[in-house]
Amino acid sequence: MTLDNLLKGVQTVAVICNQWGDTGKGKFSDYFASQWADVTARGTGGNNAGHTVVVNGIKKVFHLIPAGITNDSLGKITILGNGMVIDLEVLSSELDELDSDGVSYNNLMLSGDANVIMPYHVNRDRAKHQSQKNGGIGSTGRGIGPSYSDKIARRGIMVRDLFDEDNLANKIRKASELYPEQNINVEEVIERLRPYAERVHPFVRDTVAEMHRFMGEGKKILLEGAQGLLLSIEHGTYPYVTSSDCSLNGTAGGVGLSAKDIDLPLGIVKFPFMTRVGAGPFPTELGGNMSESYCAEEGHTRLDELQEHGIPHTSSNGKIEYNWRDPRIIEMINSEDFFTQGIGIRLAASEYGATTGRPRRVGWTDAVAAKYASRINGGLMILTKPDSLSGLNEFKICYGYERGSEVSETFSRDGELLRSASPVYKSYQGYGDIGDIRSHGNLPRSLKEAIYDFEKFTSGKVAVVSVGPDREETIVI
Ligand code: IMP
Repeated sequence: MTLDNLLKGVQTVAVICNQWGDTGKGKFSDYFASQWADVTARGTGGNNAGHTVVVNGIKKVFHLIPAGITNDSLGKITILGNGMVIDLEVLSSELDELDSDGVSYNNLMLSGDANVIMPYHVNRDRAKHQSQKNGGIGSTGRGIGPSYSDKIARRGIMVRDLFDEDNLANKIRKASELYPEQNINVEEVIERLRPYAERVHPFVRDTVAEMHRFMGEGKKILLEGAQGLLLSIEHGTYPYVTSSDCSLNGTAGGVGLSAKDIDLPLGIVKFPFMTRVGAGPFPTELGGNMSESYCAEEGHTRLDELQEHGIPHTSSNGKIEYNWRDPRIIEMINSEDFFTQGIGIRLAASEYGATTGRPRRVGWTDAVAAKYASRINGGLMILTKPDSLSGLNEFKICYGYERGSEVSETFSRDGELLRSASPVYKSYQGYGDIGDIRSHGNLPRSLKEAIYDFEKFTSGKVAVVSVGPDREETIVI
């Protein structure tokens, strides 16, 4: 079976995440965008996200523009939807990059209703209290929270406001009262934004009306999710969340569709380990609180960790190379010290933030959380990255939370409750290299058993297992 089998009779697909983000949505959105979709759209978040796009064989990280842009010359459409927050400077620099790579963007559409991330939002977000070290949530510092706060408070600046400078000046003047510490100079802000606003102006559309037209015309539509259900403002571990609703509902609403319009929601789950970036409860975290504070500190980049643990590597022009199956890393992923095991898994699976470079916190896959996420997002599930843990002697999946003498199988958004839970694990035998396996039947027995248990526990259906970053390294069940 191939991914195409999943797409029979399907007009709309959403690639979303059933964990805390960074589950490898990119591989699948890229596939659907290039091989199938007529329209690729994003509905939530901003440049807090990061995904790799392959342009002329070279990998590039984009933060706003969806993967589908590389097919623009074929007449395919790319939409930045109404639910997004847009940093105009970042969008302009992504357009510059496309220019320098010779990639056209004639069919790019930017919603006039999207909100703008203003320079004072970025300053506010970077201010001390947002930093994880100082007890903040450890945001990406891109101004996401402050921009959405202004949106919810009904004083945000929408993309279409940029083209009426009197109105824009009034709005910025109001903002200057709300952010007195920043001594906002209204004229200066307008001057700074003007060239970027002019740059994006030709792409501004009523994208909701366009989307409804595309639906009516039977165009194939891909929704590219951002972040993950457990980071959703509506369903995640509040307040340790992002400021948009990254569920299927939020993603569909963010482009003007109903969740019911989505024929095939695909919820991605990293398996058998998962990650989280930034602060907040994470019941299965390897190394617990120690790992949480370690990951919040500076000085633990991938390079630092390679050096500290004596793993041979080369580093030039920011490109770091090492053997992810170096015997020392294999030793670490099998360590009885969970903190060290977590670092080993991070190195083996390359778990460092695409946007911030921060080390991601690592733990075993939490089926309790996945059951909750899958219930809200619906659809089928895709399991990613089991291949990166080849060489493990044993892995675990969490099927319950123990508190005192009680065991619960229900996820809670209450951080205190989550932090007081001890995960109840089932252990499975580890496995060797699985990167070349192409059928479910050929997967190691213990992995099949874990997938079976996981489906049963979550009442969800696993449709795909990804065994490597390349398109062919995919098993459709
Ligand atoms: P914000 O979205 O920058 O406000 O950050 C809020 C929280 O969401 C922080 O814990 C971030 O680390 C996390 N976050 C935001 N975007 C991503 C993402 O794309 N992947 C993983 N975590 C993210």
